[in-house]
Amino acid sequence: MAADIVVIGSYNQDFVWKADRFPKPGETIPGTFATGPGGKGSNQAIAAARSGASTAFVGAVGNDTLGENAQALHKREGIESHLAIKTQAPTGSAAIIVDATGQNQIIGDMGANLELQEADVPESLLRKALIVLAQPESNPATIRATLHKAHELGKITILNPAPIAENFDISILNAVDILIPNELEFATLVRLTPACRNPKFSTEDLFTLNDAALHNLCRSLGVATVIITLGNQGCFLSEKNGHRRFSIYHGLPVVDTTGAGDAFIGAFSSGLIQFNNNIPKAIQFASIAAALAVSKSGAAAAMPKAEDIQKHLSLAF
Ligand SMILES: Nc1ncnc2c1ncn2[C@@H]1O[C@H](COP(=O)(O)OP(=O)(O)O)[C@@H](O)[C@H]1O
Ligand SMILES: [Mg+2]
Repeated sequence: MAADIVVIGSYNQDFVWKADRFPKPGETIPGTFATGPGGKGSNQAIAAARSGASTAFVGAVGNDTLGENAQALHKREGIESHLAIKTQAPTGSAAIIVDATGQNQIIGDMGANLELQEADVPESLLRKALIVLAQPESNPATIRATLHKAHELGKITILNPAPIAENFDISILNAVDILIPNELEFATLVRLTPACRNPKFSTEDLFTLNDAALHNLCRSLGVATVIITLGNQGCFLSEKNGHRRFSIYHGLPVVDTTGAGDAFIGAFSSGLIQFNNNIPKAIQFASIAAALAVSKSGAAAAMPKAEDIQKHLSLAF
């Protein structure tokens, strides 16, 4: 089998309890429960596959029921799944408590994701791919090595630098063709990149910059294409030869913004193949996919299918 998009990333199972308020230490309160798949890598793979691309996922799970759930999910979604089974750690999980105002408290254990090794990534898969997409949510060292390998093989490499911490290793950017951070991740990258000359740069600063200044900062990151996603303000595209803003796709209800970025990135990658590397077209496709995802609750479950995106594409922009 050969997949056009290979996603190297994380799989988690989310356990979500909703209650009127957070419990106090030692207290037990009633609530309602739901569980579902998560992990940025797996969510983005689902978004890519549903939006029409042949997709493979490489990740690591534990030798447990949650890992079996991951296998079954990817099979249902038509994703070529390469899950390394780790005996020394459980499948990644997150306990999420949501109160009546929508605030959340989360405990996460990335578990087996952190054990993903370079040897778990089949080289033949990388060789056959058109696009290799990654996020540093699993094992960052493996992600870095794999993106470098994919870059050397001449593949289009896409990095969603999420989640990002102040100790993020920016050397990975040398292997990236298309960087897709949200506003928080972009601000951190600017702080960490000496060429940006702005070690105190904040998200607030980002929103005060004019487009030319924002484009200059993107250029200083040293990546050919940067797409900053800006939540309900759409996104900003910076390429070597210019910059452009894209609005969100309007007209759909906003129900749950969880996974907006994952829907955008997965569909963008798939759009890039569908539209022969036309980045603005892929962004428009991705913006519709993200708006459709936001109009439904859940993350993976809300990822839209190609035909739904197409219907809106004919009306849009
Ligand atoms: N309320 C919204 N309505 C429509 N589209 C949205 C909305 N919020 C986000 N999007 C789309 O999803 C993309 C990614 O959202 P963003 O919040 O930037 O990512 P993340 O989930 O990584 O924080 C945005 O660029 C936009 O196109
Ligand atoms: Mg956001």
